[in-house]
Amino acid sequence: MNIFHIVGARPNFMKVAPVLNALRERENVVQTLVHTGQHYDVNMSDVFFQQLGIPAPDVNLAVGSGSHAKQTAEIMIRLEPVVLERQPDIVLVYGDVNSTVATALVCAKLGVKIGHVEAGLRSFDRTMPEEINRLVTDQLADLLFTPSEDGDENLRREGIPAEKIFRVGNVMIDSLVRLLPAAQKTLVPTTRTEGLPERYALVTLHRPANVDDSVRLKGILESLLEVNRDLAVVFPAHPRTRKRIEEFGLDRGQLRVVDPLPYVEFLGLQSRATVVITDSGGIQEESTYLGIPCLTVRENTERPVTVSMGTNVLVGRDPEKLRRELSRVLAGKAKQGTVPPLWDGHAGERIADIMVGQPRMKAVI
Ligand code: UD1
Repeated sequence: MNIFHIVGARPNFMKVAPVLNALRERENVVQTLVHTGQHYDVNMSDVFFQQLGIPAPDVNLAVGSGSHAKQTAEIMIRLEPVVLERQPDIVLVYGDVNSTVATALVCAKLGVKIGHVEAGLRSFDRTMPEEINRLVTDQLADLLFTPSEDGDENLRREGIPAEKIFRVGNVMIDSLVRLLPAAQKTLVPTTRTEGLPERYALVTLHRPANVDDSVRLKGILESLLEVNRDLAVVFPAHPRTRKRIEEFGLDRGQLRVVDPLPYVEFLGLQSRATVVITDSGGIQEESTYLGIPCLTVRENTERPVTVSMGTNVLVGRDPEKLRRELSRVLAGKAKQGTVPPLWDGHAGERIADIMVGQPRMKAVI
């Protein structure tokens, strides 16, 4: 069986690694890894490949940045001939980034089977580009691998037949489980977070809704400067966020704004943080697994299980709510959580089991 994996952006890399590893153990499986090049900076891509032990991509489409239409279209144009030439039996896509939806569109039109890892998540907010990517990809996929029960329910409600849906658990947690021991050995302070006290808030922000609007971003930075009075703030900034802070001429004050960190160092910092403040999807899940309080600077989440079972609290756009929740954390009254079912480090193996049980299908090209 010839299996393609298509990845492009930072959050894809910790999801593909466990599936690649699990399928490597299976007989009669040939794997091809395609990197679209959506993320291309060394600290957004290469370093993740090294730390997660992902082999160098067989194909790099080197699409780079652009508007949504441009980036999605460029991936489609460059991917189509590769699929036509190499004739995969099935193509696996990950998460909800532009590389995911672009691949699904190409493969669906060529009649090539698609598996979607992390299917079924919904924020019900179509102003988020990722929600559009999730909706379209799930409609086109043949195998839908979900991380939690809410994913199954969303898919069934959208008319996806039950036989296409497989609840396998959370693949990103597989990578976390594997690398947590190494992460816990990383020392704080690292070279990039020199002098960081024992208690600190770890912050990440990159959603367009938070960082592309100058008033919004200014408000968030002001809230963080206030947090910084009680708790040191370490803020590994996404390139997009750093550019916006500079472009809008905003004050970073005493915030420890650092470059994006490699996976292991970030996980180490996260596992020891007093609190995480974020607008990322994956970090809501990682903090739930780690039992670290997470304050999410968004009005909604496509990962509701992190709120219903985990340590996540949505603070939205309300600085007062952020202040209130932070006081609870500092008073030792943070929300307690449990780890959702099947977030156990074995999701990649469950995907591999299902994949090899699938009848061999030749693409109709
Ligand atoms: C993408 C995903 C988002 C994911 C995030 C993780 C989509 C629609 N969004 O958002 O779901 O949470 O990745 O990081 O796919 N840039 C660099 N170097 C890089 C990559 C990007 O400087 O290696 C800068 C460029 O200015 C680029 C901007 O970041 O224009 C945004 O990159 P892009 O890939 O469009 O989206 P992300 O915000 O990274």
